[in-house]
Amino acid sequence: MSFASYHDNIELGDTVILYLSPTELEAITIKRGGVERNKFGDFPHANMIGKPFGSKIYAMNKRSWIMALYPTPELWTRALPHRTQIIYSTDISLVAMYLNLKPGSVVIESGTGSASLSHAIIRTVAPTGHLHTFEYHEQRAQLARQDFEAHGLSHLVTVRCRDACKEGFGLERVADAVFLDLPSPWDAVESATRALKGPGAKLCSFSPCLEQVQKTCTRLRALGYQDIITYVGLIRHLSFSHTKMQNFVIRPNPKGTNSNKRTAEQSEATDGDAQSVQPSAKRENIEAEDEETQASETAVVGNPGVKWAPIEFATEFMTGRPAPSVRHARPHGIFDLCDTPMLSYCFRGDGLIVQNDQ
Ligand SMILES: C[S@@+](CC[C@H](N)C(=O)[O-])C[C@H]1O[C@@H](n2cnc3c(N)ncnc32)[C@H](O)[C@@H]1O
Repeated sequence: MSFASYHDNIELGDTVILYLSPTELEAITIKRGGVERNKFGDFPHANMIGKPFGSKIYAMNKRSWIMALYPTPELWTRALPHRTQIIYSTDISLVAMYLNLKPGSVVIESGTGSASLSHAIIRTVAPTGHLHTFEYHEQRAQLARQDFEAHGLSHLVTVRCRDACKEGFGLERVADAVFLDLPSPWDAVESATRALKGPGAKLCSFSPCLEQVQKTCTRLRALGYQDIITYVGLIRHLSFSHTKMQNFVIRPNPKGTNSNKRTAEQSEATDGDAQSVQPSAKRENIEAEDEETQASETAVVGNPGVKWAPIEFATEFMTGRPAPSVRHARPHGIFDLCDTPMLSYCFRGDGLIVQNDQ
């Protein structure tokens, strides 16, 4: 099998990613007579062979099932055996985009570590590009070679066991991009610069500490690099739930009885420029709308004065606080939270304006 191509049905020798639950993935190699044993039961490999990737596989006890998935680099990153800290898909996608990686790119990477990033790079540069990956830890370099071999990627990658800081890369003007995930990347940038093809080629260094970033930037500037940019990649996990909010007063709909039409117009007007509108500008608009609401006595939709209002409520998963600037389209309209830590206003799809009364 190859991570860089696809086939439909599970075969002997394939790497399969087993989906046990949303947070539990496991990678196995399909073997003759093999049995996957986990908390959900026993799953003989023979029951997987010939099934399409994505199939439900039932345990011997028939009570539970898992799913057998094709090994994409993203799934591999979540299931691989950790030999080191690894880079995850959020950062990998930023790196691949800003390094402008594409089929045919030649990339240098150090260190290889657990080869999480390597798999994504290889998939991106295939079928005509190449990854040169450098790892000074002999066992890690060897295990990475074995992984690439098992995943049908050996022709797209060269693993070298070498100290990238002390010995350099030993490559001249070959690379479209160099990626460094090293404890002291500043010691590798000079050699990395020699390995780059020239103007337009890009270098990225990934560091967990700002001090490392500062030192690397200083060295890069000294070497004449321009447009040095530092990014932080963050995932914001939002959770939407239907709930009732206390201390909210429902006001009449200001724009007539056709509340759905009003909502559709509102969605159209706000959807397009959602990214560009400043939070303060949004709030001004909303305040203007609210004045209008108070002026209008027509078209009462809902029950003015009701202190409980059911709304679709967005919270930020990590903080548990209402998510700022969240827009959530629903079949019957749009829901909009404004940019304040406390929810202050929202437009509802059924044409009501719900205002925080506090
Ligand atoms: C954090 S890990 C890299 C993880 C990798 N990016 C991934 O996604 O799996 C850093 C690796 O760099 C290797 N390393 C550290 N210094 C090195 C050097 N001077 N030359 C080559 N490899 C080095 C370490 O042995 C380690 O395996």
